[in-house]
Amino acid sequence: MTKSGLILVLGGTGHYGRHIVKALTADNQKVRILSRNMTKARQILGEEPEIIIGDITSKEVVIQALEGVNAIVISVSAFNRKMIRKLKLIERDSVLMVFEEAERLGINRIVYISVYGKPDTNVDMLQGRIKREIEDTLEKSSFNYTILGAPPSMEIFFSMIRNGKMTVPGGGPTALPTISPIDLGIIAAQTVIRSDLNRKRFSLVGSDVISFRDATERISKITGNEIGFRKVPLLLIRAAATITGLLSAIFPYISQLLKFIILMNTAFTPDVIEQVIEHQKLLKETFDYQPLTIEEFAIKFYKNK
Ligand SMILES: NC(=O)c1ccc[n+]([C@@H]2O[C@H](COP(=O)([O-])OP(=O)(O)OC[C@H]3O[C@@H](n4cnc5c(N)ncnc54)[C@H](OP(=O)(O)O)[C@@H]3O)[C@@H](O)[C@H]2O)c1
Repeated sequence: MTKSGLILVLGGTGHYGRHIVKALTADNQKVRILSRNMTKARQILGEEPEIIIGDITSKEVVIQALEGVNAIVISVSAFNRKMIRKLKLIERDSVLMVFEEAERLGINRIVYISVYGKPDTNVDMLQGRIKREIEDTLEKSSFNYTILGAPPSMEIFFSMIRNGKMTVPGGGPTALPTISPIDLGIIAAQTVIRSDLNRKRFSLVGSDVISFRDATERISKITGNEIGFRKVPLLLIRAAATITGLLSAIFPYISQLLKFIILMNTAFTPDVIEQVIEHQKLLKETFDYQPLTIEEFAIKFYKNK
């Protein structure tokens, strides 16, 4: 694609999406985003990208956002306390509607930000089942598509530090693939302007695959402040997940969050971690970037605080 192509980033104000937009604009690409809030979007992204205001659940808005577009990056999420009840509407129904309208308008290039590994069909999380369905739909489509499987952001380590202590539900796995949102942005920006990555799926991972305990030590060294570590037993999390699971109509977010925490503690088995080296090698061969270490990311993270 030439630089004159217009790229639509859905979820362009999000944790990952904003770095995708920033990497694209830094590469002088023409970018449009869709956001429900102009002030927030301008604050996050500055003057550069074109902003369409509206909701992805509206067909009229989607048609307006797709006008004149050459490629689409989909990085929307409703996995938060406020929007969890609309998760299926936003992450499934609206994304399928975007596919339908893109096909009708002859837009062929799609980059979809999914989760790290392709979820099992029977995964016990609504978001995982939705990601699986969207990936299956792309595989059956005639789009020129690339799926980028995102692990938890490296920020997960920092978000669990309060008052000099990192408190981790379940203690976390012995090695957790994460990526800095900056690296994800660069990779996605390079992906969307290429057409030779059709039908490919990449599991994205940064240079560091470490435990939460290792992270406390490495962040302590860089900040010069000793960070403590506390593990909340997984048994307690499982008990809470059973209770909130039964009451999921009342506590939909907590119920899904606890399921995610259990998955994070149990999914990264030694054989999954063994494949990480292959994923890292493939990323370095395919994309032009230098993955940030947790120390490099920590410096940027605390500077922006
Ligand atoms: N963050 C992580 O650690 C992580 C880990 C693994 C996978 N992922 C995947 O990465 C992708 C992006 O996640 P994220 O964490 O970056 O998301 P996020 O920070 O929660 O951002 C969500 C984005 O979706 C947009 N959005 C939500 N509802 C919308 C609606 N009704 N209409 C229009 N836009 C809407 C928001 O736009 P406005 O608010 O501006 O309207 C925002 O830009 C998702 O596929 C997620 O599953 C994320």
